[in-house]
Amino acid sequence: AAKAAGKLWLGTAADIPGTGEAADPYYITAFNNIHDFGEATPANIMKFEFTEPQQNVFDFSGAETFLAASAGKAIRCHNLVWSQELPTWITAPTTPWTNATLTAAMQNHIIKTIQYFGDRCYSWDVVNEAFTDGAVTNYTSNIFSQTIGPAYVVLAFDAATQAVKSNVNGSSSVKLYYNDYNIENAGAKATAAQNLVKDIKNRGIQIDGIGLESHFIAGSTPSKATQQANMEAFVALDVDVVVTELDVRLNLPPTAATEAQQVVDYYNTVSACVAVPRCVGVVVWDFDDTYSWIPGTFPGQGYGDIMYQPNGANTPLVRKAAYDGILEAF
Ligand code: XIL
Repeated sequence: AAKAAGKLWLGTAADIPGTGEAADPYYITAFNNIHDFGEATPANIMKFEFTEPQQNVFDFSGAETFLAASAGKAIRCHNLVWSQELPTWITAPTTPWTNATLTAAMQNHIIKTIQYFGDRCYSWDVVNEAFTDGAVTNYTSNIFSQTIGPAYVVLAFDAATQAVKSNVNGSSSVKLYYNDYNIENAGAKATAAQNLVKDIKNRGIQIDGIGLESHFIAGSTPSKATQQANMEAFVALDVDVVVTELDVRLNLPPTAATEAQQVVDYYNTVSACVAVPRCVGVVVWDFDDTYSWIPGTFPGQGYGDIMYQPNGANTPLVRKAAYDGILEAF
């Protein structure tokens, strides 16, 4: 249905390898259903702490397990530079970082990682979540912004551009994305992301797309028209957009009313993407409530995914009405 609507895929995040879902045969069977999921995003295993646990000592073994489990799917590789899931050699260095040394370490991470995976990545989320929320947007305080300044974002895209131009392992086809949340409707943060796109492009550096995470709450999700207009504002800057981490959480336990609202919210986001030709795909941030990040991050909330296991892990999955909402939107 996604392809018939002109999209590349409906995809999902998955936490493979990992302790839970990788060992759940019912989860894996559903993940493997290529008719449901034509794309996969590693929820964790390609993040900095896993891929470069010691400086310039790379470990792609977990990522290889993920790629093998995702055979036949496109891969949105995620992510290269973020404030979370960093190795301690970055966050607690034995010798304090300087602007020059941290820039070099960050750029080495970006270039080596992009070159290693090459064209096995459809895209890379080069920088993740660089902006703060609220009426006024600033750069998030993290080791990179503190040491290098806001320029770390442009420097990261500059390194990624070098890696793509090198074409090692076919990397020239890899698309470079900026990915963030709360940029799914107009506001200070979306404007900051749009200004970033302009700045990167004005410098002759590559940026191909914007990831709109879309971690939504049932009943307080932007309308279809609002999301569509926002996508069009990005596309007007000559970038693609992808809905990269869609889930719609609600207060537990679900009620008939909140579940019905969730269906509408899933439908609206996917419909907005369908209405925008350069919204190239939709990815849900995992599909089975059993393994969702939501309850651990937002206590009291959950039921945010499109399938669940009524009898718990290692038992059959059931598709929710939200699944049909997505299907209807395509
Ligand atoms: C989350 C994972 O799902 C969790 O397992 C992990 O503990 C923290 O990160 N925005 C992102 C994702 O870009 O990388 C985050 O993933 C969810 C929010």
